[in-house]
Amino acid sequence: MTLIVVLLACLALAGIGVAAPTRPNIVFIMTDDQDRRLNSLAHMPFLQSELVAKGTEFTKHYTNQALCCPSRSTLLRGQTVHNTNLTNVSQPGGSYNKWVLSGQDKDYLPHWLNAAGYRTEYIGKIMNGYGLSNYNVKSKGWDWSDLLVEPYIDDYNLPVMSQNGQRPVFYDGFHQTDVIRIKALNRLNNLTSQATPFFLAIAPFTPHVGFQQDKPSHRPIPLQRHLEDFPNAKAPRTPNFNPPDKYQANAGGWVKDLLPMNNTAIDFADFVYRSRLQALAGVDEIVADVVALLEQKGVINNTYIIFTSDNGYHLGQHRMPAGKSLFYNEDTNLPFVVRGPGVPANVTSDIPSLHIDLAPTFLNIAGVPEADWPVFLDGRSVLPQWHDPKSSSAAGAAAGQGNSKESINIEYWGRAGIEAPSAGKLGSPFDSTTYKTIRLLGTQQSWVYTVWCSGEKELYNTAEDPYELVNLAQIANSTRLTSRLNALLMVTKSCEQNSCRDPWSLLKPDTGGPRLVSLTQAMDKAYDEFFANFVKVSFDTCLTIQSDTNETPYFPPLNELLGGGLGRAYRNATDVIKPAGGVRTLSTPNYYGTKAQRNASFKSLRAVSRPLTDAELAAQ
Ligand SMILES: *[C@@H]1O[C@H](CO)[C@@H](O)[C@H](O)[C@H]1NC(C)=O
Ligand SMILES: *[C@@H]1O[C@H](CO)[C@@H](O)[C@H](O)[C@H]1NC(C)=O
Ligand SMILES: *[C@@H]1O[C@H](CO)[C@@H](O)[C@H](O)[C@H]1NC(C)=O
Ligand SMILES: *[C@@H]1O[C@H](CO)[C@@H](O)[C@H](O)[C@H]1NC(C)=O
Ligand SMILES: *[C@@H]1O[C@H](CO)[C@@H](O)[C@H](O)[C@H]1NC(C)=O
Ligand SMILES: *[C@@H]1O[C@H](CO)[C@@H](O)[C@H](O)[C@H]1NC(C)=O
Ligand SMILES: *[C@@H]1O[C@H](CO)[C@@H](O)[C@H](O)[C@H]1NC(C)=O
Ligand SMILES: *[C@@H]1O[C@H](CO)[C@@H](O)[C@H](O)[C@H]1NC(C)=O
Ligand SMILES: *[C@@H]1O[C@H](CO)[C@@H](O)[C@H](O)[C@H]1NC(C)=O
Repeated sequence: MTLIVVLLACLALAGIGVAAPTRPNIVFIMTDDQDRRLNSLAHMPFLQSELVAKGTEFTKHYTNQALCCPSRSTLLRGQTVHNTNLTNVSQPGGSYNKWVLSGQDKDYLPHWLNAAGYRTEYIGKIMNGYGLSNYNVKSKGWDWSDLLVEPYIDDYNLPVMSQNGQRPVFYDGFHQTDVIRIKALNRLNNLTSQATPFFLAIAPFTPHVGFQQDKPSHRPIPLQRHLEDFPNAKAPRTPNFNPPDKYQANAGGWVKDLLPMNNTAIDFADFVYRSRLQALAGVDEIVADVVALLEQKGVINNTYIIFTSDNGYHLGQHRMPAGKSLFYNEDTNLPFVVRGPGVPANVTSDIPSLHIDLAPTFLNIAGVPEADWPVFLDGRSVLPQWHDPKSSSAAGAAAGQGNSKESINIEYWGRAGIEAPSAGKLGSPFDSTTYKTIRLLGTQQSWVYTVWCSGEKELYNTAEDPYELVNLAQIANSTRLTSRLNALLMVTKSCEQNSCRDPWSLLKPDTGGPRLVSLTQAMDKAYDEFFANFVKVSFDTCLTIQSDTNETPYFPPLNELLGGGLGRAYRNATDVIKPAGGVRTLSTPNYYGTKAQRNASFKSLRAVSRPLTDAELAAQ
C-alpha cells in the first residue's frame, strides 16, 4: 500500500484530483448477533422507512463464520476465517490480542482507506478481548476510535469506552446504546464539516446477550424508554422451531441429541425475542438520527449507509434455545441493507454476497484501482451488484466469471454455547462444533452440505426445504450430488484469493469439455467418475483450533501454496496469546436510556463522564 500513498502524494503534487472531495462517504452500521431470519428488521420502523424503502435489501448476504470475533476480523481483513485463523472469541482460537500478535492489524481496511485519502473512524465494539488489560493497544488504522471495553461491554447500563487507546471512560447514568448514538452523531457532525471523504463504522453491542446486576441475563438489556415496547411479541414459530424427533434425530453433531424445548424454555425464548426487539429500538434511533444528520448536512446523496450484523441468531430453531455458531440459515444469513449513490430505492435482491466482499467493495467506492488492492483479499467488490441489484446476469446461477457467486464457504472450530438458563443441563458449551460447510445459493441450485469433525454429514435442499429439516445426506440418490459438493468444499475449505472467488476454476475433469462454472453443469454424467474419485473432506479428530494436520487432505495440497497456504504468507504465527483479563468492580441495578435521554446532547454525556480510577483499572 506504500505504493498507493506515494502515488497519491505525487498526483496531489501534480494537482490531479484523485482525492476529489466528491468521492462518496461510507457509514457502516453493524449490530451484534442480529438475525435476519427471525424478522427483527421488520420491527425497526426507521430502518424500514429510511434504508429499506430508500435503498436495496440483499436477502442472501452471509458470513463465513457465525461468531463475533471471527466474523468481524474477516470483514475488516477481507479474508475468510481459515486464512485469518481468528476462529474464536478468546485465545488460543481468536481475540483482539491474537489479531494484533499475528500482525493482521497492520494491514487491513482502515489503512487501505487512509491511503486512498479517506478519514476513517470506528465507534462501538471492535473485537472480543479488547478490555481493561489491553485498551492501550490502540486499534491501528483508525483516525479516531472510541471502543467498548471488556468486561463492561455486556453491561448495557455501565458504558465504559476507550477513546483512541486512552484510559477508559465511564459514562455514569447512560445506556450504552445512547452513548454510541450520541458519540456517533458528534463524530458525524465533525466529519461532515470537512471536505475529506470519510468511512465511519458504528458498531453497537445490541442485541447481544447482556449482563446486569439483579436482572435476568441471557438477553440484551433494552433502554428504559423501550422496556414496555412490543408487549405481545413472540419468538417466530418457524417450521424448524422446536421440531419433532423425525427431523431432529437426523441432524448432526450435538444438535441431534437436543431434547425438545419445554414450556419454560419456550417462554424464555419469547422473553428474549421481546427483549431483542426492545433493545433494537435503540439501534433504530441511531439509524433515524444518522440519516437525519446526513440530510441536514446535505451529504445524504453522496453517502453509502450500510446496515448489517456480524452474525445471525437462532431462538428455538432445531431445538437450540438461543445462540449462534451453526451453519444453518438463521445463524449465517445476515441483515443487509444499503442506501447510497446509484443504489435503487425500494428494491429486494437475492444476489448472494459475503462479509469478505465488503472490504473490496469499499475500496471500489473509494476509487482505488483493483490492481492496487491487497493481493490476499478473498472476496470481490459487489458495488456493481449494489448498483444493479436486479440484473439477471448478476443473479445467474453460474459462479466465477462475471459478477455472480453461487458457492459460499462456511466454517467453524470449537466452542458453541447455548445462551439460555437451561444451557448446562443441555450439555452446553459444546467444544465439538467443528465443521466445514458449502452453501449453494444459485437460482437453479440451492443446497447446504456440511461435514462435521465427527464425520457426520448434513445435506439440505434449501430451495424445497428452506428451514433445513430433511437431512438428505444419508439418502442413496444424494451420492452424485454430494460427490460434487464434496469437491467444491475441498476447494473452499482452504481457498485463498481467486480460488475463494471462483472455486470451480480448480476442478478440472479431464474430459475435454468446457471449464466448469456451475453445479448444474457439473451434474452431467460425463463427470461422474471425476467426482466419485475426488479426495474426501475429513478430519482426524474434533479439535477446537485450526490445526492444518488435523484437517488433511487439502486440495490443492498446502505445500504447493505460497507460505504453506491458509493465509500464512500474510500473517504471523500466534501460539502464545495472553488472556484479556479484567474484573468488574462497577455495577448497577438501574435501567438508563430514559425518555429525556432520547435527545441528550454530547455535552450532557461528557458532563457525567469520568476516567476509570487506578483501582478500577488494576482489577484483574
Ligand atoms: C474459545 O472461547 C471460549 C469462550 O471464551 C473459551 O472458553 C474457549 O476456551 C476458547 N477455545 C479456544 C480453543 O480458543
Ligand atoms: C512477522 O514477524 C516478523 C518478525 O518479527 C516481522 O518482520 C513481520 O513484519 C511480521 N509480519 C506481519 C504480517 O506482521
Ligand atoms: C474534528 O475532530 C478532530 C479530532 O478531534 C479535531 O481535531 C477537529 O478540530 C474537529 N473539527 C471540527 C471542525 O470540529
Ligand atoms: C437527494 O436526492 C433526492 C432524489 O434525487 C432529492 O430529492 C434530494 O433533494 C437530494 N437531497 C440533497 C440533500 O441533495
Ligand atoms: C415499495 O415497493 C412496493 C412493491 O414492491 C410497493 O408496494 C411500495 O409502495 C413501495 N414503497 C415505496 C416507499 O415506494
Ligand atoms: C425444562 O427443560 C430444561 C432444559 O432441559 C430443564 O432444565 C428444566 O428443568 C425443564 N423445566 C420443566 C418445568 O420441566
Ligand atoms: C432424493 O429423492 C428424494 C425423494 O424423491 C428427493 O426429495 C430428494 O430431493 C432427492 N435428493 C437429491 C439429492 O436429489
Ligand atoms: C491457528 O491458531 C492456533 C492457535 O494459536 C495454532 O495452534 C495453529 O497452528 C494455527 N493454525 C494455522 C493454520 O495457522
Ligand atoms: C427529540 O427531538 C425531536 C426532534 O427535535 C422531537 O420531535 C422529540 O419530541 C424529542 N423527543 C424527546 C423525548 O424529547
